[in-house]
Amino acid sequence: MEKRDKIYEGKAKILYTTDNPDLLIQYFKDDATAGNGKKKGTIDEKGIMNNGITCKIFEYLGQNGIPTHLVKMLSEREMLIKKVEIVKIEVIIRNRAAGSLCRNYGVEEGKTLLCPILEFCYKEDKYNDPLMNAYHIKALGIATEQEIEKISAYTFKINELMQKFFAVLKIELIDFKLEFGRYKGEIILADEISPDTCRLWEVGTGVRLDKDRFRNDLGNIKEGYQEVLKRVTGK
Ligand code: TMP
Repeated sequence: MEKRDKIYEGKAKILYTTDNPDLLIQYFKDDATAGNGKKKGTIDEKGIMNNGITCKIFEYLGQNGIPTHLVKMLSEREMLIKKVEIVKIEVIIRNRAAGSLCRNYGVEEGKTLLCPILEFCYKEDKYNDPLMNAYHIKALGIATEQEIEKISAYTFKINELMQKFFAVLKIELIDFKLEFGRYKGEIILADEISPDTCRLWEVGTGVRLDKDRFRNDLGNIKEGYQEVLKRVTGK
């Protein structure tokens, strides 16, 4: 697969075209940001670890009925993906209170929720990714009602699958963020699933194995990602 032009560079990844117009290469960087880019840094080998974790989880979700943009892992930092039109929303599920839920609603971190919370945020850095609901999405023409229903159904299913996947690895899935895209008229899962986009706590100890170590200066940042990679890939 020939890598051609850089077409997009985000905070954590770069997208390149290939000789196939339907396929792109997603390259994972070591750059880390938090607070919508206010805090910046790098985490040594994060790109390698997040590519490994994302490929493994997308493969598992694909085998369990979730269509994804993964074609195959190409190299340690590169994933061959289907070229989608990204739906401009970030879809979040929360199983336990953490992060902005605690800040915005005065909930204690770690509080068990009576049911999972599904949230949508507008994917637009210049407006600080504001929380939005299905009416905003429909009214602003960001996605259709059918697309929102499909995205919501996939997201709840992914939550169940990922909770099971991580439970076996003695990791609790606290919350996570997904992005979806349109590919040949269908909604498919895109972007990444990694410790950058999930909160993952070790069962029993509550040790944070995710980007909160970077966000909150908890130290041993790389080790958290490494531990997740080790458990997810068995290596
Ligand atoms: P939050 O508590 O900061 O709203 O984050 C909820 C989850 O979504 C958490 O696992 C981190 C993830 N997330 C992203 O991946 N990207 C983002 O831009 C935001 C705001 C959250």
